[in-house]
Amino acid sequence: MTEKLKVEGLYKVYGERPEEAMRLIREGADPDTIREQTGQVAAVIDASFKVDEGEIFTIMGLSGSGKSTLVRCLNRLIEPTRGKIILDGQDILQHSKSEMRATRRRKISMVFQNFALLPHKTVFDNVQLGLSLRGESREHCEKAATDALAQVGLSGWSDRYPDDLSGGMKQRVGLARALASDPDILLMDEPFSALDPLIRDELQRELLKLQREIKKTIIFITHDFQEAVKLSDHLAVMRDGRFVQVGTPQDIVFRPFDTYVKNFSREMDRGRVLTAAMLADAFETVRVAPTARAADAAAALDAAGRPFALVETPSGAVQGYVGRSDLSRTGGTVSDAMNDLSAKLASDEIVGNAYDRFQPNRPVAVVTPDQRVTGLVTADDVLGFLAGKTMPDLRLVAERAPVHAPTPAYQEANP
Ligand SMILES: Nc1ncnc2c1ncn2[C@@H]1O[C@H](COP(=O)(O)OP(=O)(O)OP(=O)(O)O)[C@@H](O)[C@H]1O
Ligand SMILES: [Mg+2]
Repeated sequence: MTEKLKVEGLYKVYGERPEEAMRLIREGADPDTIREQTGQVAAVIDASFKVDEGEIFTIMGLSGSGKSTLVRCLNRLIEPTRGKIILDGQDILQHSKSEMRATRRRKISMVFQNFALLPHKTVFDNVQLGLSLRGESREHCEKAATDALAQVGLSGWSDRYPDDLSGGMKQRVGLARALASDPDILLMDEPFSALDPLIRDELQRELLKLQREIKKTIIFITHDFQEAVKLSDHLAVMRDGRFVQVGTPQDIVFRPFDTYVKNFSREMDRGRVLTAAMLADAFETVRVAPTARAADAAAALDAAGRPFALVETPSGAVQGYVGRSDLSRTGGTVSDAMNDLSAKLASDEIVGNAYDRFQPNRPVAVVTPDQRVTGLVTADDVLGFLAGKTMPDLRLVAERAPVHAPTPAYQEANP
């Protein structure tokens, strides 16, 4: 993974006397106190995070937590008070005005919540206007606009006006406009918040699909936890200007830093975040040879407290599975009691999208891309995991998705 963007110790204080607010921040004051004592607004406090090329990084937080301020700092529509914003290895806060204009032109585009379309321009002109204003050739503008409209599925709509379009379509135009300049990074500030739930769901799915094709780096803002979980490779939870936790959706849901973070996932189906690999890691996989004695295999299962064993030759070829009850019915070897292993989950699959593969009294095999079976799991395991009775080996999860520690300022304020 190539690091695209790194933000270090970023602060934004609105007002004439940021120094005073910065002093109070150092003393651990919260934004309300700072506002009361100084009249300054500490909107972003000590935000640090990294975004890899091609990932969707979401910043999630309640209204007023500082999301829009932060995302506007990233292209310097708002001037940060302090910090570093390192884009492709260069701190853009050191850029001159003209360098910054070039960066905005080539590297970063923004998609807004309220679409920000010009009502008297056609869809096509709305998409190509930015390019044409900065002096790109007519040929280039037209090609870029045509391609971008095709990417968002609006090819036939070029000559229509924004008022002819539904909210969802307007936002596709907004996205096409951002895509037309072929930026490395897309900043999306609550792009779907104004849309009806069904349209929103559809656009979320399309964004994920589009992202797989175009592989832009996307910084996505939302106040909707479900949306954040659904879209993100990594997500940051913001509260009162501070980052509380940064991690994968799995980290945030299964290893919340505190009750504030935990409460966001209280109402959701956590199976929608659970990966098959996490489930496989959480339970021991008993492996027995087909030639082993049935009684020995039964003893191994009893010792592990597991209902099923994987039947595997000494050279590692998987032949099937045996259940504890199958073994009690035979006096012979494991192969006498063996069943076919038909139900499978890929290790990166989301368990909640595959509930129908879990049948009563049958295990599901978790299979890696190179066809290794890493686990044999059951519906009971899923329920047990989601009910919190079994937690995965946290080290394993951490290796797969490193957790970014909360900022020192946050830890100080929330001991
Ligand atoms: N130009 C400004 N001058 C002073 N304070 C501001 C300014 N813009 C935002 N704020 C304040 O900064 C804080 C963070 O606002 P911001 O708009 O970044 O939050 P947000 O998370 O995007 O909220 P929302 O979900 O409502 O969009 C709020 O307290 C807000 O009132
Ligand atoms: Mg906002």
